[in-house]
Amino acid sequence: IKTVENFNFENQTALVRVDFNVPVNKFQEIIDDTRIQYSIPTIQKILSEKGKIVLISHFGRPKGKPSKIFSLKFLANFLSKKLKINVSFFEDCIGETAIKKVRELKNSEILLLENLRFYKEEEEEDINFAYELSKLGDIYVNDAFGVVHRFHTSITLLPKFFENKKCIGFLMKKEIQYLNQFLYGKGKRPITILLGGAKISSKIKIIENLINLADFILIGGGMSFPFIKIKGGKIGNSIIEKDQIIEKTLKKIYSKYKNKINIIHLPYDVVIADSFKNESNTKIVPIHSIPNGWMGLDIGPISIKNFCKIIEKSKTILWNGPLGVFEFANFSLGTKSIARTIANVTERGAFSLVGGGDSIASLKMENCDKKISYLSTGGGAMLASLKNKILPGINAII
Ligand code: 3PG
Repeated sequence: IKTVENFNFENQTALVRVDFNVPVNKFQEIIDDTRIQYSIPTIQKILSEKGKIVLISHFGRPKGKPSKIFSLKFLANFLSKKLKINVSFFEDCIGETAIKKVRELKNSEILLLENLRFYKEEEEEDINFAYELSKLGDIYVNDAFGVVHRFHTSITLLPKFFENKKCIGFLMKKEIQYLNQFLYGKGKRPITILLGGAKISSKIKIIENLINLADFILIGGGMSFPFIKIKGGKIGNSIIEKDQIIEKTLKKIYSKYKNKINIIHLPYDVVIADSFKNESNTKIVPIHSIPNGWMGLDIGPISIKNFCKIIEKSKTILWNGPLGVFEFANFSLGTKSIARTIANVTERGAFSLVGGGDSIASLKMENCDKKISYLSTGGGAMLASLKNKILPGINAII
């Protein structure tokens, strides 16, 4: 696979697909800029060779509808400060004016374009949309590891227009190296995989692969509710994706892996709230008996103890997804305790891989991100890499 090191960017316009889908709070302040930070080496290489850069990215899930809250505009300023050069912004990602803005770029200048997902075609593998995007650069660089598992236009189709002029960036190269170390290096046992977060449908199918890989699988946060439901528990108003694939996949896992199913550990208790806000009323109850009108927003004290005990005896740990709504201080104890425990175990010699914006943000809150062996910029992408199959975004470059 070609990397940016195989190209000289002098007088070339690099069309760089990044993943600037950074976690933000309600004031649109970035809570964790790891994804941006990690993409800087690629940007700097191109700039130092007097290339021009056009940055394209998605942000959130606007579902094809332009809106202010999903605009990437706020990042132009942030990037300018970070890179100490002016980064300009244009409010579309295709079209005549976008092309004109690209042509006006001088060597070592950067243009950030608007959210690709303002076009529904981005998520539909649309060849015309890919063609329009292809007019924006001479060399295609994919440095968007976080979205490399998606069959999206800018990831799988766009590179087709660049024949020999396509490559991966430094961020992507590093991610592949560490994941290969986890997969093919002699991962010391016990291997523990901890899954939380809310993007259940993208992660559920991977559990089957994980069962064959791990000694313990710990499930928390939004991920746990479909499991509890399928076992006949009451989850009240806790979040749950209504997706039949989730139910089908879970049923399959429970019947196919009867002998190994006890490696999956679910929370025993949960902190519930009567509304989705920090100042709501709370109670601690067993996770399978959440009353109607209440929702689980964090794992409870017994679950924290049980999970930490397993992590403490692990030699290899992989973590994706928070165990609760950690942005609300009252529901952050589970996630923070897990973050601290993984960091401590790593200090004592374990290998740890943590991926996903929220998990990294929680490690930073606890000041223990530097202790982790490797922070991956991908959540779903990191898990998809464990499937032993070449990811669509990599396949498109090979
Ligand atoms: C992520 O945050 O995991 C990536 O940016 C991918 O986003 P998506 O799950 O909305 O495709």
